[in-house]
Amino acid sequence: MASRPVSGPQIRVRTRKDLARQRRARRHRCWDHIIAAPLWPLYDVNLGTLLRTCDAVGACLAVPRLPWVPGALDRGNTLRGPSCVHWVGRDVCQWLERQRAAGTRIVGVELAEEAVRLGDLPAARERTIAVLGHEQTGIPPEALDLLDTAVEIPMIGTGKSLNVAVAGSLVLYRLAGFI
Ligand SMILES: C[S@@+](CC[C@H](N)C(=O)[O-])C[C@H]1O[C@@H](n2cnc3c(N)ncnc32)[C@H](O)[C@@H]1O
Repeated sequence: MASRPVSGPQIRVRTRKDLARQRRARRHRCWDHIIAAPLWPLYDVNLGTLLRTCDAVGACLAVPRLPWVPGALDRGNTLRGPSCVHWVGRDVCQWLERQRAAGTRIVGVELAEEAVRLGDLPAARERTIAVLGHEQTGIPPEALDLLDTAVEIPMIGTGKSLNVAVAGSLVLYRLAGFI
């Protein structure tokens, strides 16, 4: 049997300078194609995490105009310059209804019987909103009726669900066609 080489391939971690050269010099404009929508947010740290993922995949973030949300986004925005944020009025279901009527595909990120598994979710070919649920109670029933489809991320551990920003980030990467 051939013995394993003593050392593997040489892995060189990219420097910050390398990364800066490979990234955009300026923020992307609003492509308005993939939109992450944590419509019932509870914890500001999750909004900051989602904002970073949106920047990475070229998506926008849609959030309700609650008094604490602008401050939470400012604190969570560790990127250069402002990000693409769509402000939603207090009636988030009405907003979803309008988006759907205008032809946008509404994908619920949720643990649901009828959900497709993440690996079977195709990349977004049309304008798509990924709806994320409340951190404790999930997507409310009145909003479930407005979804075109739901996607669930498989889990085999003891936890009942993932952190909402982790779940949203995985789905955004999939919708963007990066994984
Ligand atoms: C912490 S979970 C909500 C709590 C959950 N409904 C419960 O009763 O335990 C918050 C949100 O994260 C998303 N989420 C978490 N884990 C998920 C998974 N495995 N698949 C799809 N979405 C998930 C969903 O949007 C969900 O509404």
